[in-house]
Amino acid sequence: MLKKNLVKMPEWQALQNHYQEMTRLTLRDLFDRDRNRVERFSLREDDIYLDYSKNLINTRTMDLLLKLAVARNLKVEIENMFGGQKVNQSEDRAALHIALRNLNGSPVTLNGSDVMPGVRSTLEKMKILSRTVREGRWRGFSNKRINHIVYIGIGGSNLGPRMVVGALEFYRRRNLSFHFVSNVDGSQIKETLNKINPEKTLFIVASKNFKTEETMTNAGTAKQWILECFKSEKAVSNHFLAISSQRQRAVGFGIDPENILDIWDWVGGRFSVSSAIGLPVMMAIGYRRFMEFLSGFHWMDTHFREAPFKQNIPVTLALLGVWYVNFFLVSSQVIIPYNHYLRDFPAYLQQLEMESNGKSIDRNGQPVTYHTAPLVWGQPGTDGQHTFFQLFHQGTRLVACDFIGFCQSLNDIGDHHQKLMSNFFAQAEALAFGKTKAELIREKVPDRLIPHKICTGNKPTNSILIGRLTPQALGKLMAMYEHKVFVQGVIWNIFSFDQWGVELGKQLAGRIFRELSADCPRSGDHDVSTAGLIRCFKDAQVSGLKKD
Ligand code: F6P
Repeated sequence: MLKKNLVKMPEWQALQNHYQEMTRLTLRDLFDRDRNRVERFSLREDDIYLDYSKNLINTRTMDLLLKLAVARNLKVEIENMFGGQKVNQSEDRAALHIALRNLNGSPVTLNGSDVMPGVRSTLEKMKILSRTVREGRWRGFSNKRINHIVYIGIGGSNLGPRMVVGALEFYRRRNLSFHFVSNVDGSQIKETLNKINPEKTLFIVASKNFKTEETMTNAGTAKQWILECFKSEKAVSNHFLAISSQRQRAVGFGIDPENILDIWDWVGGRFSVSSAIGLPVMMAIGYRRFMEFLSGFHWMDTHFREAPFKQNIPVTLALLGVWYVNFFLVSSQVIIPYNHYLRDFPAYLQQLEMESNGKSIDRNGQPVTYHTAPLVWGQPGTDGQHTFFQLFHQGTRLVACDFIGFCQSLNDIGDHHQKLMSNFFAQAEALAFGKTKAELIREKVPDRLIPHKICTGNKPTNSILIGRLTPQALGKLMAMYEHKVFVQGVIWNIFSFDQWGVELGKQLAGRIFRELSADCPRSGDHDVSTAGLIRCFKDAQVSGLKKD
């Protein structure tokens, strides 16, 4: 359905005018004027507390943003996604990741049939496989029990399970170690293989299409390693599992059909950790905890679908993001988890947001005339404080930050957690309110240093406070961001579930790969820069790069 040009909508124009008024106000003003600001701009649902009061907003801002969401038909769009419509129109598919964690027994219909029986039978198969491995009943070719799981996949077939296995390490079975190989740089697989014993290793090759170059190259090297060890093709079925929607390709690789788990084309890579792609997670934390993890997703899915927009956590976060990206022209969304276990969470969100909404053509095939996804990045607090936070406090750019913290630590050691969380609170406070000249004078700071020590404040943050890092809480947090991304795609009128842009580089690399072989004398039809680089590389492979 054709949507109105966003910037021409009266709701947008109203926001544009309102933005001009808001630039005259600071967070100090906004807090001084409204004693009920925190009650007004916070949401508490189950064990999640979102305080968004430290944003450059007032009640009118939120009213206008909510009106925009309504005018963009958000309610209908949400129902379309949950109802199995082909919301991924450019790939002619539904996006039904919500079915993967639909734990209430209700059907989820796609083209007139219920997908839930297939989802449940894959979960059952995952349960059997993961129990066999966890209980030591899966044996390698020389009858040794498995201690190392090497998961090979890239992009959405890597970041989710890698992040979650790390995030839930506290719950991990300790006699199984997990290794993730994604990069086609042979150093990654080599260093991984150096650490493990082939007799005790199980490889999981995860690729939706089972032809992604990086994954297939790494899988080939792994297979070679197994064959060199056992000198028998039969060993492959003891040491390889596959997760794919292309069963035949996995069989062709030599994997036993019994050891192949299906995924469906209606599950996008970056939304796939609650599918069979989550197998290493289940192996790490067990079936029961994996189901708790899924229940967290399901909780947030239900909240997203049913809560009025005003009380809706993903909708609120999405609208705040639109406010900064499109009106303040903020280009960075920074994610700071105050939790070591969530160290890979920013990288995971980077793909989720940037691959989904890094688009410049709208659903009508027209170039957009407004910004879409920001650059998403981050690092755990407190590490980030000692590196890039300086720019947040005193640099020239405005960034939007999400701080994620937990009330209870999983590892209560001395006063670590209190210290960690004092930083969580302190940084958001410092960013919002800064330090004025008057305060510095009162502190008797020498005159010459005063300009250097002023922190203007007025830097927006969201504080997301969660009870404890449980599998369920993590599921909620992940689904919260998934739906935030979806809402923004609706507002921006772009297709969030495709990723055509990554194809061009893949095609070119395939061509150049052939040209790099020693017996290909000429490089293809390239610009002079690329041709020169290729020539230099090929010469240097023989004689090194240094000039004589
Ligand atoms: O490079 C883009 C991409 O298609 C991602 O979206 C996807 O998650 C990844 O490659 C891996 O794809 P596959 O699971 O088919 O190997």
